[in-house]
Amino acid sequence: MKSSQSNIKKAKKYLDNNDCIAVPTETVYGLAGNAYSNIAVKKIYMLKKRPVNNPLIVHYHSLEQLKKDCDLNDNFLKLYKKFSPGPITYILKLKKNSKISKVVTNNKKTLAVRFPKHYLFRNLLKNLNYPLAAPSANISTSLSSVKVLDVQDEFGLKIKFILNGGKSKLGVESTIINLLDRPSILRYGALDVSKIEKILKKKLLIKINSKKNISPGLFKLHYSPGIPLRINARKAHKDEAFLLIKKRKVKLKNYYYLSKKNNMDEAAKGLYSILRKIKKDGFERIAVEKISNKGLGKTINDRLKRASKY
Ligand code: TXA
Ligand code: MG
Repeated sequence: MKSSQSNIKKAKKYLDNNDCIAVPTETVYGLAGNAYSNIAVKKIYMLKKRPVNNPLIVHYHSLEQLKKDCDLNDNFLKLYKKFSPGPITYILKLKKNSKISKVVTNNKKTLAVRFPKHYLFRNLLKNLNYPLAAPSANISTSLSSVKVLDVQDEFGLKIKFILNGGKSKLGVESTIINLLDRPSILRYGALDVSKIEKILKKKLLIKINSKKNISPGLFKLHYSPGIPLRINARKAHKDEAFLLIKKRKVKLKNYYYLSKKNNMDEAAKGLYSILRKIKKDGFERIAVEKISNKGLGKTINDRLKRASKY
């Protein structure tokens, strides 16, 4: 515990100095910087090679802090009570006098906000007097990082400090919901949409690929392991790794399993690590068997579909 306190102090020092650092969250690792500082936020875009028209999520510790930057509404409060801190990101209206850097939002009037659950990240946020902009800690279009080694694989020595919080518990990014007018889902993620529907007592619009959104749909290739991947495969070709949703009796060298018994939470958690491993093991192509759309299956299929645009 002592060492984690001193690491948080170190992290704070870098952030106060307008540097960006990698931080653990319960979904995936983030590349964090002071959301009120143009300098810090520009560094995030540069490191990630992220197009400037793709806005960032801002991470808060408390509602009090958020109230300074955004207008809150009833749907938000209902969902916040139930799911935050946790793997859900809300799109809210930005206040005119908010201090959020215009670089974070690409001059938009809305802001993506999240309350992360990882105890180290929360502890860090509590010690700062600004919220943290943090996209996933990976080079744009690549796979998100779920542990320190992944972050190092992505950025090498370019990141000055990584706050080590072990392996991310959920392994896929947060679910994004737009709460500006009629609630709509902009990205499938670690929180099952049906759980959100239960709280709001209505079916949600799904706007995953809407051209009007700047959200993830704009970029076709994403979450890519850096080698070709095909989905809904019945069989693997000789040179392909075969990614399967449950264990098989026969063991073949090119078989990789997302779960023992078709469990979608387990599969989502391991997805990015297994894709990274397949590439490290030397395969140059991946075939993935058909995966059901139940629960987090939707999120897994969304990521695999984008990865298949390679
Ligand atoms: O789990 C997560 O959400 C992780 C951890 C680090 O918190 N973060 C993450 O951030 O996945 P990022 O930048 O990789 O993905 C954020 C997505 C982007 O695709 C962006 O287009 C969308 O959120 N976004 C950000 N601001 C938005 C806004 N104002 N309106 C619509 N979409 C927005
Ligand atoms: Mg990302």
